[in-house]
Amino acid sequence: MKVDKVIASATTILPLRLKDMSYSVGNARLLDGIDLTVKAGRRLVVMGPNGAGKSLLLRLCHGLIEPTSGSISWQSQDPRPAAQAMVLQRPVLLRRSVRANLNYPLALAGYARAARSEMVQKTLARFGLIPLAERPARLLSGGEQQRLALARAWALRPQILFLDEPSAALDPSATRAIEDLIFQFSAEGITIVMTSHDLFQARRLAQDVAFLHRGRLIEHGPAAQFFDAPQTPEARDFLGGALIW
Ligand SMILES: Nc1ncnc2c1ncn2[C@@H]1O[C@H](COP(=O)(O)OP(=O)(O)OP(=O)(O)O)[C@@H](O)[C@H]1O
Ligand SMILES: [Mg+2]
Repeated sequence: MKVDKVIASATTILPLRLKDMSYSVGNARLLDGIDLTVKAGRRLVVMGPNGAGKSLLLRLCHGLIEPTSGSISWQSQDPRPAAQAMVLQRPVLLRRSVRANLNYPLALAGYARAARSEMVQKTLARFGLIPLAERPARLLSGGEQQRLALARAWALRPQILFLDEPSAALDPSATRAIEDLIFQFSAEGITIVMTSHDLFQARRLAQDVAFLHRGRLIEHGPAAQFFDAPQTPEARDFLGGALIW
């Protein structure tokens, strides 16, 4: 299927730059002095043990929460309403039909009714959701819900997509389907920042890796370098399957 090039006409909002960015709750410094640049058109996988701060990092980048200190800045402002989108670790779907779930964010983003219905129809077709369009979204299977969450994010034509554990708890074929979609998004020019617990998935998808450990970014660079020659003992242990936190 032919798909519009998403960033062709828009001002690019990337790179995204984090400078000495920290996030604390009370006395706990959950993310500490993060320096990170997210480049346009890349697939970055954020890795690290449970509780390292991966989900927090994505939420901060997406602007759902504010850093306590340091900065997070975009290259430029996109005049469009939704240049960035995020799929949460546990996607929250409206207690309404699949179609309504796709329509709602487009309405929030300010698209007119006629444009919306065309965009929704295109999205349903693109993601194989036409047979499920009138079903209550919350009754879909886990894999279908995840596909809908990705479809909903894609419908906004973002330049960058934040995906938090996009295939956690999915079976191998559903996982494959999600990975195929991620590759397609990437081919369309969408920058991907995602987390994954699955080392094999990370190897398949990552062009760049950011490795977090206890709230600190201790490695960042090309994926091949990270997997073949990790620089820190923490990353070596993590890749070797040792239990670290
Ligand atoms: N609002 C909050 N208040 C206090 N602590 C928090 C808050 N949000 C997150 N945390 C803590 O911050 C740490 C990082 O959480 P985060 O969800 O980012 O981890 P993660 O790397 O995504 O882990 P997982 O692999 O389990 O998804 C955890 O120890 C978590 O308990
Ligand atoms: Mg998480």
